[in-house]
Amino acid sequence: TEHIKKVESFKASDAAAVEAFRIEYLGTKGLLKELFAAFKEVPNEQKKAYGQAINELKQKATDKVQQLKDELESKEEEAGVYGDLTRSGYPIEVGSRHPISIVKNQIIEVFSRIGFNVSEGPEIEDDWHNFTALNLPEHHPARDMQDTFFIQTNPDVLLRTHTSSVQVRYMENNKPPIRTISPGRVFRNEAISARSHCIFHQVEGLYIDKDVSFADLKQTLLYFTKEMFGKSKIRLRPSYFPFTEPSAEVDIYWGLETETDYRITKGTGWLEIMGCGMVDPAVLTNCGIDPEEYSGFAFGMGIERIAMLLYQIGDIRMFFENDVRFLKQFSSTL
Ligand code: PHE
Repeated sequence: TEHIKKVESFKASDAAAVEAFRIEYLGTKGLLKELFAAFKEVPNEQKKAYGQAINELKQKATDKVQQLKDELESKEEEAGVYGDLTRSGYPIEVGSRHPISIVKNQIIEVFSRIGFNVSEGPEIEDDWHNFTALNLPEHHPARDMQDTFFIQTNPDVLLRTHTSSVQVRYMENNKPPIRTISPGRVFRNEAISARSHCIFHQVEGLYIDKDVSFADLKQTLLYFTKEMFGKSKIRLRPSYFPFTEPSAEVDIYWGLETETDYRITKGTGWLEIMGCGMVDPAVLTNCGIDPEEYSGFAFGMGIERIAMLLYQIGDIRMFFENDVRFLKQFSSTL
């Protein structure tokens, strides 16, 4: 019984201790061997009790060895597979929004404050919505401005080259007054470099109502640049788009605020941030809106370019590489 108690209370912290225990009790020269050998020495009247005792001891020792081995094994498993199970669940590492999403949401926020809603459309488009309705008939030279990925020809199916296609869809399905912005991914067959990518994001805006003038467009742009960049020194440079007349390109003056402004590491002076203009009457007609009754303006900008300016990012490819070291640097509640 003394031996049984010892066996019952035995504890081992590693495999070597378990093995030593096994040898001591169950080994070929172990205690049980000895006790069994001593059986024939035991007086007859004690043989029964003695026999029961050593059999119990043998059973207990065998069970103990198995139990200890199991325990050690599951401990190892926990450590290896699950790590330390008693470890606290905190701090939880929180992911961050992609900088393109942050800037897109900011733009949406700024325009929603002056009554613009958000509209979306398909990335795979037909010729009508991407080109023809926008005053770019077949063989129009301006089609080459936007090198297109075609999925199918005749009839043409393509990856949209701008989100102006969404504005066409919106005008076809909604009556003025229209105030909508269309954020989304666009595709152009361009060589990938630090400055341009074959996939990028745009936000285009459309405002249609009675008596909308160029002054309304300019005021909207002044409001937007002030809210977005904290400054609104802009200039409108005459330009050409088939869907707007007159058309302009918008430059923002990106200068040092003070002599020692450390925020700007690259690109100062007049920087182009978007295209805009008064919607061409032919486009309104194509979309079922009477140009005699309504007029409007449109604008479009690349989100990557705005983000590069705001965050001083020098290479557009960084947005698409999904390097966590890059993405982790951005945080926003928007
Ligand atoms: N759709 C033009 C582009 O992709 C941008 C633009 C939109 C220009 C609206 C003028 C008016 O470059």
